[in-house]
Amino acid sequence: KRPYIYVTRKCSEEQLQPLYEIADVEMWAEEEKPCPREVLLEKVTNADALLTMLSDSIDQELLDKGTQLKVVANLAVGFDNINVQYANEKGIVVCNTPDILTDTTADLTFGLLLTSARRLIEAADYVKDNQWKSWAPLLLAGHDVHHKTIGIVGMGKIGQAVAKRATGFDMKILYHNRTRNEEAETTLGAKFCRFDELLTSSDFVVCLAPLTKETKNLFDLEAFKKMKNTGIFINASRGAVVNEEDLYQALVNKEIAAAGLDVFLHEPIQADHPLVGLNNVVAFPHIGSASLETRYSMMNLCATNIKAVLSGEEPKTKVTI
Ligand code: GLV
Ligand code: GLV
Repeated sequence: KRPYIYVTRKCSEEQLQPLYEIADVEMWAEEEKPCPREVLLEKVTNADALLTMLSDSIDQELLDKGTQLKVVANLAVGFDNINVQYANEKGIVVCNTPDILTDTTADLTFGLLLTSARRLIEAADYVKDNQWKSWAPLLLAGHDVHHKTIGIVGMGKIGQAVAKRATGFDMKILYHNRTRNEEAETTLGAKFCRFDELLTSSDFVVCLAPLTKETKNLFDLEAFKKMKNTGIFINASRGAVVNEEDLYQALVNKEIAAAGLDVFLHEPIQADHPLVGLNNVVAFPHIGSASLETRYSMMNLCATNIKAVLSGEEPKTKVTI
């Protein structure tokens, strides 16, 4: 019997070609909305493999229903939406898409930093809204990026790629991580520091730490208060690493100057989300890895990983915890 693979969101069939060769592939067909939980709970019952999105919760309940399930390939580097430990206990392999999205995500993160510092969205809206009446000395004046200090929290591959971009802007680079990143220290001159030391010394605090028990709510009011009043906070990892009410307070009370956010606690957020109403917040809809090239590569990697596991081979990028 051919294996059955369920794909929870419309993907490019061309990129998933390796799967069509070996299995019956079914894809959630609606372009505009995600596969509802009830549908996924039903589909998993006879699925040999799932290709999932970071917005799907692959929890114990779902894994228990997947009695034939052998592999879950998540279209993301992050895997906090999956109970990996439970999956592994049941012999289910979990795969993610590291490496291929590193530079794309670093570009977006640094772009978000530049956008927040130089008020680029406000500036573009200003022209589109027909508000530009004259040149003025302090019109839309923002903060410099070059020669400032960037503090990167979570110095994995993406953090290191952001640090590399920062060297081109002559920035001083600080970082905090569970373990030292010697390559970043020797090749980029990044300096390891304690979390609170990074907060007090950085002009830009950039969060790229994965969401874990240890990083949940890491950025709370206490953390924001330690930052400079001119400091800018950038988050491109997961929303739950931040206490959003505390961030809102910190922005309103001018504990920090601005924030650039690609991720939120409950996605998608709506325009009436308190943070979005602040003019010193730039909000993006979780597009870190969203270039056509990278998203196609991610789909292809998921397909390659699923094919490997179903063929009894070792997948390229298995999650190990
Ligand atoms: C996106 O957030 C990812 O984890 O790939
Ligand atoms: C700005 O365009 C300047 O010439 O200073």
